[in-house]
Amino acid sequence: PDFGRCPRKSAVAGGGTRSSQWWPCELNLAVLRQNSDKTNPFGGRFDYSAAFSKLDVAQLKKDITALQTTSQDWWPADFGNYGPFFVRLAWHNAGTYRAIDGRGGAGMGQQRFAPLNSWPDNANLDKARRLLWPIKQKYGSSLSWADLFVFAGNTAMENMGFPTYGFGFGREDTYQSDEGIYWGAEQDMFPTDGNNVVRYNGSTDFTARADQLESPLGAVSMGLIYVDPRGPNGNPDTKASALDIRETFGRMGMDDEETVALIAGGHAFGKTHGAESGDDVGPEPNAAPLEQQGLGWKNTFGTGNADDTFTSGLEVIWSRTPTKWANEFLFSLLNNNFTLVQSPGGAPQWEAQDANATYPDPFIPGKFRKPTLLTSDLALRDDPIYHNISKTFLNDFDYFTEKFGLAWYKLLHRDMGPISRYLGPEIPKAAPLIWQDPLPAASGYSTLSASDITSLKQQILAAPGLNISNLVTTAWGSASTFRISDKRGGANGARIALQPQVSFAVNNPTRLQTVLKALKGIQSKYASSGKQVSLADLIVLGGNAAIESAAKAAGVSLTVPFTAGRVDALQNQTDVTTFAYLEPQADGFRNYGKGTTRSLTEEFLVDKAALLTLSPPELTVLIGGMRALNANFDGSSTGILTSRPGQLTNDWFVNLLGSYSTWSVVNGTNEERFQSVDPKSGKVQWTASRADLIFGSHPELRAIAEVYAGSDAGSKFTTDFVAAWSKVMNLDRYDVKGHLGAF
Ligand code: HEM
Repeated sequence: PDFGRCPRKSAVAGGGTRSSQWWPCELNLAVLRQNSDKTNPFGGRFDYSAAFSKLDVAQLKKDITALQTTSQDWWPADFGNYGPFFVRLAWHNAGTYRAIDGRGGAGMGQQRFAPLNSWPDNANLDKARRLLWPIKQKYGSSLSWADLFVFAGNTAMENMGFPTYGFGFGREDTYQSDEGIYWGAEQDMFPTDGNNVVRYNGSTDFTARADQLESPLGAVSMGLIYVDPRGPNGNPDTKASALDIRETFGRMGMDDEETVALIAGGHAFGKTHGAESGDDVGPEPNAAPLEQQGLGWKNTFGTGNADDTFTSGLEVIWSRTPTKWANEFLFSLLNNNFTLVQSPGGAPQWEAQDANATYPDPFIPGKFRKPTLLTSDLALRDDPIYHNISKTFLNDFDYFTEKFGLAWYKLLHRDMGPISRYLGPEIPKAAPLIWQDPLPAASGYSTLSASDITSLKQQILAAPGLNISNLVTTAWGSASTFRISDKRGGANGARIALQPQVSFAVNNPTRLQTVLKALKGIQSKYASSGKQVSLADLIVLGGNAAIESAAKAAGVSLTVPFTAGRVDALQNQTDVTTFAYLEPQADGFRNYGKGTTRSLTEEFLVDKAALLTLSPPELTVLIGGMRALNANFDGSSTGILTSRPGQLTNDWFVNLLGSYSTWSVVNGTNEERFQSVDPKSGKVQWTASRADLIFGSHPELRAIAEVYAGSDAGSKFTTDFVAAWSKVMNLDRYDVKGHLGAF
């Protein structure tokens, strides 16, 4: 493939050389505008759950089942059954998920768009998607592609005899490529060293570098979903492959047992495709000519399909019964002797040369092959921990079936967020699992009346130890962990009071404890009156009370909307390891942290804003408002460009845009800190961070900041600030009727 080498340099309407090419380093705000109303043919407020309620799931299953065993001439089914192909489709949709930033996963139907539609590892899945088109067309908007991709795999497994654990629909389609995902810094798609050393901090030692994989990446190489099936960089080293598998599967929150279950379970089905060298395969879908109509990888070898197919370039069959749920893969793995051989195209793979040829050819009846495996499969035999798990699974098929069922369910639903988002008749009835971030029932709390709310706010504002700054930072710290990528985090559950969040440096643990103690005091006083309020609600209410009070101090009377009903999670309902990933590298809203060699401070700010689904104006007004509210994580004056901190004014905008040529870099801060000197007195007037000055420097952000600095901006500023603030406080409230998740 010839990625990114458009000879015309750009394919913009009208052609030519554009600003992004003249100034490629300008901060790009596109990610804050993506999935806007304009990209979605349904407009801004498509209610997928309402559309889905019209779907006949039983009939859908029948249609998938019929399709599964109806081989099409244009892409004939191996063994007369597309089941394994659909399982791979589901797996590759879900398998891009990475727990560190919650991005990837099946949730947005992203395999329809670049880069995933053309990812080398997704070769020929364009055909699987096209096979499903008649079903998608039949059900229209009541069934998203995102749901169909994974449900097809789930149904296929059931049809092949696997008892799945359950299924939740509810993945709403997007209509453009997700520009928010960092897939790596390589300039090439293929996993050769010299290329993917980039993500290993330059290390070429593939036997010892797995844990150096750059954060937040989830794959060993650009273009792969997880690991190289041939072994690291094509080296058939089974033990080193295990290290890569452990790291990458770990980054999607899978432990060793889940990892073995997934690989051994998945490779119970189907085969790999490498009938030839691959030299006859044309460009991937995104580079293919118009007349191919979105399909790519056109193969001119033989028939180009069926037994002539080239997908991964490996030619392996794992099982005597590749379209039936059975323990054949593990039996073969642990009982055969495997020798390193080459696929027809020359890629390393393994064959049990002394075994009988009992594995069926996918197309020629009566023709059989010897058992074969991938290097990455043999990792499950040669890594001591994986080996023990494989043995246990082989000896206890029911146990293996149960564990694969749970791991497969987790794989498919990992990025869906709260279970209240799941739709359809097949949601498991059992209690939520730990990775679903369970919350207690809301019934344990009292309904808050308007007078309760007023009284609680008064108590909060009067409590010793509480002030505008620490109430705002605590509420922000609680709610702003939310990330749209996998819908984790948010204020509900008050997990800011639990490990690991209570110890995040960005939350200023000492100050946070003071706030939590005071709020808990109010909570127990309230309980003594016979009523229960959650700490989660009190934290948000505290932020609201502080903002109202800060507005009042600035002469503005306003009420910040409040939607009660949050609950408090318990520590044992909180997966400490994966919640630790919610700790930000930088949070420009609280002037915390700084950039890395990969990403500048202001880029982290935009990234965070994207995970909070903020538009450029929402980002801008929040920063200006929070600076006015003195909401730095450490209480410092960096970026607090006002002489009256704690009052909700637009001073920050006025002072930022009103200082001409007075800013300079503070020496020794690596261009992270700046100061503004008063030209008359020569004294330092303000200090600021990159997350401040970007709003005066970047033309689009400056244009927005100018609106809020205008002499007529007063009420617009406060109205917009309150709206953006409330949006953040409620991002995770999928439990509230009418809450439509944005992307
Ligand atoms: C096919 C690699 C994990 C399910 C394949 C193919 C490769 C591969 C190279 C062949 C593609 C082709 O040429 O057609 C890997 C690696 C894995 C992994 C390296 C991780 C270490 C999984 C998991 C599942 C899965 C977790 C599902 C739970 C499948 C299925 C096929 C397949 C069903 C057969 C597709 C067909 O018959 O067309 N895998 N895989 N794989 N994989 Fe995996």
